Amino acid sequence: MKKNIVILISGRGSNMEAIVRGALPGGQIAAVIANRPDAAGLVFAHANGIDTAVVDHKVYASREAFDAALAEKIDGFSPDLVVLAGFMRVLTSAFVARYAGRLINIHPSLLPSFPGLHTHARALESGVKLHGATVHFVTADLDCGPIIIQAAVPVLDDDDEASLSARVLAQEHRIYPQAVRWFVEGRVELVAGRAKVSATSSGPEGWTVPLIEADTP
Ligand code: GRF
Repeated sequence: MKKNIVILISGRGSNMEAIVRGALPGGQIAAVIANRPDAAGLVFAHANGIDTAVVDHKVYASREAFDAALAEKIDGFSPDLVVLAGFMRVLTSAFVARYAGRLINIHPSLLPSFPGLHTHARALESGVKLHGATVHFVTADLDCGPIIIQAAVPVLDDDDEASLSARVLAQEHRIYPQAVRWFVEGRVELVAGRAKVSATSSGPEGWTVPLIEADTP
């Protein structure tokens, strides 16, 4: 049985697109759900024959009511994995608990640095020389869950927000499909609050996740 993946988006959906385009033996994108009717990524998903749905947060009186409606919609697709891909809503702890261990997010920084918004501007302002992106399990604390994979990029002297975010986004498009593939292959597990990846696997075309072997004495 293929594992069902439900992807949540709010806008452009380029990470969703990267996941859809990536080979996913053993998994299938069951649906793409947006919290905004005008989320541009819905067009790509629909054009690619993927079920789409909108659960408009503006229609709901509270965060709890929105999350309950969202969960009901998600559960209609029997998800094995729920993927937040530029989903710009803070989720309630009840929602997070419901999908514990099968809810992942991508964040455009090397967590635990720069949780929250405007990560690229904050990275530039702080003068860090390395920046990047992180795929992590979602827990009740924002941008704090166990880290599955990260990619780092240099921060160059002449970078501005646009150039830095583009460099990071290219890495997001590599690591997010990789993390989803690992999950589908059953290689990611939570051990003592940390995400453990059991073995290497080939990544997006031409790229292999390096296995760093411990030095032998
Ligand atoms: C990405 O940078 C992601 O890391 C952040 O929001 C952005 C969404 O971009 N959470 P897209 O919608 O996937 O193109």
